[in-house]
Amino acid sequence: MMEIVRDASEMRAVMGKLQADGANVALVPTMGALHAGHLSLVEAGLRDAGKCVASLFVNPKQFGPNEDFSRYPRQEAADIEILRAAGCDVLFAPAPETVYPSGFATTVSVAHIGDTLEGAHRPGHFDGVSTIVAKLLLMVLPDIAIFGEKDWQQLAIIRRMAADLNLPVRILGAPTVRDNDGLALSSRNTYLSATERTAAAALPAALLEAKRRIEAGDAVPPVLAQASNALLNAGFSSVDYVALADADSLQLLAEADRPARLLAAARIGATRLIDNFPVEPRG
Ligand code: PAJ
Repeated sequence: MMEIVRDASEMRAVMGKLQADGANVALVPTMGALHAGHLSLVEAGLRDAGKCVASLFVNPKQFGPNEDFSRYPRQEAADIEILRAAGCDVLFAPAPETVYPSGFATTVSVAHIGDTLEGAHRPGHFDGVSTIVAKLLLMVLPDIAIFGEKDWQQLAIIRRMAADLNLPVRILGAPTVRDNDGLALSSRNTYLSATERTAAAALPAALLEAKRRIEAGDAVPPVLAQASNALLNAGFSSVDYVALADADSLQLLAEADRPARLLAAARIGATRLIDNFPVEPRG
């Protein structure tokens, strides 16, 4: 039986019960509209820790004024069924007033890692993410917390924050789950028309082609420019970035001389998609 918890003090009590028999507990933070990518994190939590708490909170602080907060897909009843079927032990779904009571005044901000890429294109986004993830980790106090590599820069920021603040939680990354044509699963894929959905597969395809060429020794800047052009030719309306960055610091690179990540953000119609792949250093 999955418990549904709405407030922080009840969450502490439920956590005490879960850990009483010595079990380890994993937390999987989500904004809902759950898909197989989210489920893979719950499965990893059950496998690695034994017990799993999923959280569902559409965090207003991580959306910019012109972003999709109000139309972000919300389907709590369906999400509850999905988590039950997966064997999740607890759903923590706090109300906004519980998370941000009146007078709330604190922001957690991770410098540098959050300045480039998504941080440069979505001002304030990562402060919203760091603040809510710090709060969720402290409200739930799990043994481990699991995040998707799909949001690579987010994962790097959360690792940095947990280390910097001595949060007593082990942060784990989990691989990106993709559809058959390679498109990474995302709650935002529901915004795509059928034509856009077909064209969207160009995003992983362009990144994989760029990865292959960089790993084969081609010069990085022209490879990135060609990947960007490939997206525009495939029907993307604009490209925010196609970039190579240090895998941990997210510092931009002009050469693949260390473990790196190839990352992109692009718009198809009104929908903004992101993706990333590892790039092995030239040995
Ligand atoms: P959300 O976009 O709902 O994603 C929740 C978690 O699922 C994140 O760790 C994300 O990286 C992971 N995820 C999304 N798509 C995935 C895929 N295709 N394969 C594997 N994992 C995937 O990311 C957020 O919510 C929020 O920023 C949050 C961390 C919950 C803070 O509000």
